[in-house]
Amino acid sequence: MELLALTAPAANRVYAAGAGVLTSAELEILSGVPVEPVHIAGVEYLAFDADSTPELRAALARHSAFLALFARHDGLLDPLEVPAHGLFDDDLVTIPKYSGKTNEQFTRLLLNVTLAAVESPTGRRWTVLDPMCGRGTTLAHALIGGHDAAGVEIDTKSVEAMAAFWRTWLRRKRLKHTADVSPVRREGKSIGKRFDVEVRPSKDAAASHLTVFTGDTRQSAKLYGKRRFEAIVTDAPYGVIHGSQGRGRKQRTAADLLTESVPVWGSQLAPGGSLGISWNTLGMPREDLVAALTDAGLHVHDDGPWRRLAHRVDSSIHRDVVVGTRPAD
Ligand SMILES: C[S@@+](CC[C@H](N)C(=O)[O-])C[C@H]1O[C@@H](n2cnc3c(N)ncnc32)[C@H](O)[C@@H]1O
Repeated sequence: MELLALTAPAANRVYAAGAGVLTSAELEILSGVPVEPVHIAGVEYLAFDADSTPELRAALARHSAFLALFARHDGLLDPLEVPAHGLFDDDLVTIPKYSGKTNEQFTRLLLNVTLAAVESPTGRRWTVLDPMCGRGTTLAHALIGGHDAAGVEIDTKSVEAMAAFWRTWLRRKRLKHTADVSPVRREGKSIGKRFDVEVRPSKDAAASHLTVFTGDTRQSAKLYGKRRFEAIVTDAPYGVIHGSQGRGRKQRTAADLLTESVPVWGSQLAPGGSLGISWNTLGMPREDLVAALTDAGLHVHDDGPWRRLAHRVDSSIHRDVVVGTRPAD
């Protein structure tokens, strides 16, 4: 049947003229069917041919810009119900406002397309790692989506601000939880802090977990030891607001940091797990990042809708998304 998805007008504010292309590429990746933006009476919809199965409606519910679904019969739009998305209220991602925050809607797109490429068994709970997590936009989206979340962030103040916000939010929502910041020691020396949360979305539901370490992302495998992740999702520093830190110097672009970090992150993926990165292509060409993922043993998704995720953010940031999957053993 011919289906039309109406997207939230906010998508236009995030991607300006590129919203239709980006949100249709995301939907194509989530649904597995071709999607194209169309205009009906001056309003943009995403059009595709599919049966309205529960899987399709669940994919639409997750989509970063989804507003409403219609079937078109004889030129008339018939509204179809789509289930609500999320274990937790989405004000967990919308309330925090700070310089350097990754746009909430774009973060959801990045998480969605990375999760869509995961080939791990779906029976058990997945954990999403953001190895440069800032104040945790990806982590909050992962928990809302029903996954556990883990992070690494070099800026201790960001982790402290995240912890303060989460504690207030968890208390205000009256959710049964623990939320603790504690020192991390290795061989008797203090090497940073960790923030751990365990929270139940409702009284009898299974607990969701969050862990964040302060530290350099290049040490992520040391911080998390043998733990493996079904998805690793990160929005890299753009070399504008966040200079990439480490080794006692500030770097102009994230290229060196990404080149050094991709092999580390690749080693932290579970078999069938996926790594999704958004970055500023003005600091590192796509081919170089694709080569880094390939060298790390990942299969890069580099055709069809995967090549339609690049977009302009402003005059100094042209953002793209690359996703690679570790072959299942
Ligand atoms: C674009 S921001 C990500 C923002 C995050 N998605 C959010 O919404 O809060 C990039 C983050 O990478 C962090 N970062 C830069 N270099 C790092 C490093 N070597 N190790 C860990 N984190 C790093 C920065 O401090 C910054 O928080």
